[in-house]
Amino acid sequence: MAEGKELKDLQERLAELRSQELKKIDIGRDSDDKKEDKLMEKASKAGQKPVIAVDKEIGKIAESPSGPVGLDIGTSFVVAAENERNHIHTVKQLNAFFTIPKSKFAKSILLKNEILFFEQDNYFYIFGFSADNFAHMFNTSTKRSINSGILSNDEKDAITVVQAVILSLINRPKNLGETLCFAIPGEPLKGKGSVVYHESVIKRFLGSMGYAPITINEAMAVVLSELSKDDYTGIGISMGGGMCNICLSYLSFPVITYSIQFAGDYIDSMAGLSVNEPATKIKSIKEEQLDLLKDPKDRILTALHVFYEDLIIKLLDSLQRVLFSSDQIPMVSKPIPIVLSGGTSMPRGLKERFERTLKRYKLPVEISEVRMSEDPLNAVAKGALLMAMTEMK
Ligand SMILES: Nc1ncnc2c1ncn2[C@@H]1O[C@H](COP(=O)(O)OP(=O)(O)OP(=O)(O)O)[C@@H](O)[C@H]1O
Ligand SMILES: [Mg+2]
Repeated sequence: MAEGKELKDLQERLAELRSQELKKIDIGRDSDDKKEDKLMEKASKAGQKPVIAVDKEIGKIAESPSGPVGLDIGTSFVVAAENERNHIHTVKQLNAFFTIPKSKFAKSILLKNEILFFEQDNYFYIFGFSADNFAHMFNTSTKRSINSGILSNDEKDAITVVQAVILSLINRPKNLGETLCFAIPGEPLKGKGSVVYHESVIKRFLGSMGYAPITINEAMAVVLSELSKDDYTGIGISMGGGMCNICLSYLSFPVITYSIQFAGDYIDSMAGLSVNEPATKIKSIKEEQLDLLKDPKDRILTALHVFYEDLIIKLLDSLQRVLFSSDQIPMVSKPIPIVLSGGTSMPRGLKERFERTLKRYKLPVEISEVRMSEDPLNAVAKGALLMAMTEMK
């Protein structure tokens, strides 16, 4: 009997000691740590919400965000993401523009059609989806403010146009100093343009709008958005218009990040040159008809197949080279996934083509599977939003 009581006492004392130890551990974590945990939990829950995506409607004014914002400033599109009660809301604007000389006649057409434009020097700058819709009416073609992922140095007005495109999507925040996280590209392997300049110019502008701007690597944003169930460990790839961004993430740390300045635009222009057709025509056929699982039935589709394969090879060559030359590869105990995202990952059969080509490569990390992003055009903005949500204020 006595033995039984002693044992019970001992167990009780042990339990009490254990709970005191736990309390001590808990006390060891300061309130900032706990706040950070809560923010992480909130962001991770938000990551499970469905994304409701819309294109920016002509004539609709930008809203003032009342919480953190994620922003993907891409070569083709700018996408803003906000966390709503039951979903993540994204809104997208075309990142294109053209200019026409000022005239009263042109102004009345622009106003009547609710076309987005601003005036500078002696020109009207028409931008966003409006630019695509109306360029042919003014007998001209659109230009880009971002080239190959980075603020264009050819267009002297690139900064003003990017600012106008951003302002068409989001206004000043309701609360001054709201966190806004925007995606920046990884340093290009064969550098054309400076990511540092791109980042600091955009940061300065967002700061002047009343945000507290932070940045995330574009491919890391894909990892945050898509690899929560894999402890944010894997390779995120964003195949966009101007570049492919790559990030090897280990437990949410971007261990290796870089970019190559080949992507959708490269496919359009190379396929166009090969069959002597304008890149714009190739682009629309690519977006509407391309199926990489089917044998191509004409010369344009054949050229698209050829340059898709070429892009995948360029991507995997670079990945092999970068991973083997790095001394930072983490020792991971199990194979890791690759997740593909971005508009250029969208044709049917891309995953299968990627997997087939990947078999020819040896990498210093074992790959478990190739996965497609659930929402290729919005994954970066969503990942940037999740990052913004974890930032303490
Ligand atoms: N259904 C589709 N099939 C093939 N390509 C597509 C499809 N939809 C969009 N694209 C291509 O995706 C590209 C745009 O993708 P995305 O919006 O991810 O780029 P971005 O983020 O603006 O550019 P970047 O990341 O290079 O700066 C364009 O080249 C476009 O032609
Ligand atoms: Mg992109």
